[in-house]
Amino acid sequence: ILDTKYTKNFISDEEIKNIGLEVEKAHSLLIDKNSQGKGSVGWIDIPRESDDRLMGEIESIAKSVITNSDAIVIIGIGGSYLGARAAIETLVPGLVGKKIFFAGYNICGDHIKGLLDALKNKEIVVNVISKSGTTTEPALAFRIMENFMKKKYSPKKLKDRIICTTDRSKGAMRRIADANGYRSFVIPDDVGGRFSVLTAVGLFPMACAGIDIREVIRGAKEQFFDSAECNVENNACYRYAAIRNLLYRKGKKIEIFASFDNRMHYIDEWWKQLFGESEGKNGRGIFPASCDFSTDLHSMGQLIQEGERNIFETFLIVDKEDENCLIPYDNEDMDELNYLAGKQVDYVNLKAYEAVSLAHFEGGVPNMTMHLAERTPFCLGQLFYFFEKAAAISGYVSGVNPFDQPGVEAYKQKMFKLLGKYGS
Ligand code: PA5
Repeated sequence: ILDTKYTKNFISDEEIKNIGLEVEKAHSLLIDKNSQGKGSVGWIDIPRESDDRLMGEIESIAKSVITNSDAIVIIGIGGSYLGARAAIETLVPGLVGKKIFFAGYNICGDHIKGLLDALKNKEIVVNVISKSGTTTEPALAFRIMENFMKKKYSPKKLKDRIICTTDRSKGAMRRIADANGYRSFVIPDDVGGRFSVLTAVGLFPMACAGIDIREVIRGAKEQFFDSAECNVENNACYRYAAIRNLLYRKGKKIEIFASFDNRMHYIDEWWKQLFGESEGKNGRGIFPASCDFSTDLHSMGQLIQEGERNIFETFLIVDKEDENCLIPYDNEDMDELNYLAGKQVDYVNLKAYEAVSLAHFEGGVPNMTMHLAERTPFCLGQLFYFFEKAAAISGYVSGVNPFDQPGVEAYKQKMFKLLGKYGS
């Protein structure tokens, strides 16, 4: 559910109605197979057309991986890892750093070295994910990891311990997989990195973390139908896309996505990447930022409440929270907290959210709230699909092609030149 009541003073029903025409155009562009984004919209139908054979294969390989390993290393960057990380950190807190490790999302020698040290006495399985197969960060991490594993395992054993998720036919990763006989999952040609969480890119790591991926897809499928109708009033996904564009046009250039649960931090990161890379081009684009509340209320709270009025917020709230931490009564009451005795800590968190959304609204920061019913695979599937579709519609409404990312090449070319790469 998307609650938009705290955007009311900033945009009128009339404005939402008027932008409806632009949303309709965006919808047509999205479903028109000949538009700019043609060749990049395969993700739209994934939940509906979920391939049972592929799901079974993912589940059975994940099952053997879980049994045969103490450590599962997921190598990838950007859209090739953030969705999986978001799901795992949210649904299985504590697993990352214990059984699941992420690598290839930075160029930090100490990080890789530390990881190898931690893996020394463990049975390892690696899932390297790269659609292009040529991205420097995961390629570097994989080369080092493969080298490390070659010293530990025979070539025959290695085949069971390295799984590549990459393009069907192109790129270095595909060549490596084929040449070595590593098992592989295919990233569909028409699904770009940041829209790939519901393919093997996200689903295989999730399954390795014990997450019920059929539930994730079931949630996405429900959202597929909920966001199918081209209507800003009834379709919350399209309404979200419309409202954020209206706010942007009124000078709200920054959107802060904030959850009130640190376990959901990587959902913020996934969301940021999805919207930043989809919309930031042609000299425009909402700057997607994120906060962890209530933590960041003590760092960013002042700026949001009273700084430049160029911000709007989207909160992520889980309606059914774990009720497992009761505030005790204290005879002395020296901390003066007895007025909360007998309440859950999460109850206080909920009140913090209600207070923040009202205070920020009154302080000139419009905000919306995305309510997740529960912290479950099903609801996460809904969330992933909701924001994927919203990013596509929102990008088209703002006048850009949401599916390309020409800007990320600029630094790469300069870096390759500095590094002396052949042909750069
Ligand atoms: O969304 C995107 O397209 C990017 O964030 C990519 O996922 C990221 O750059 C990684 O690319 P690749 O999977 O080709 O290594």
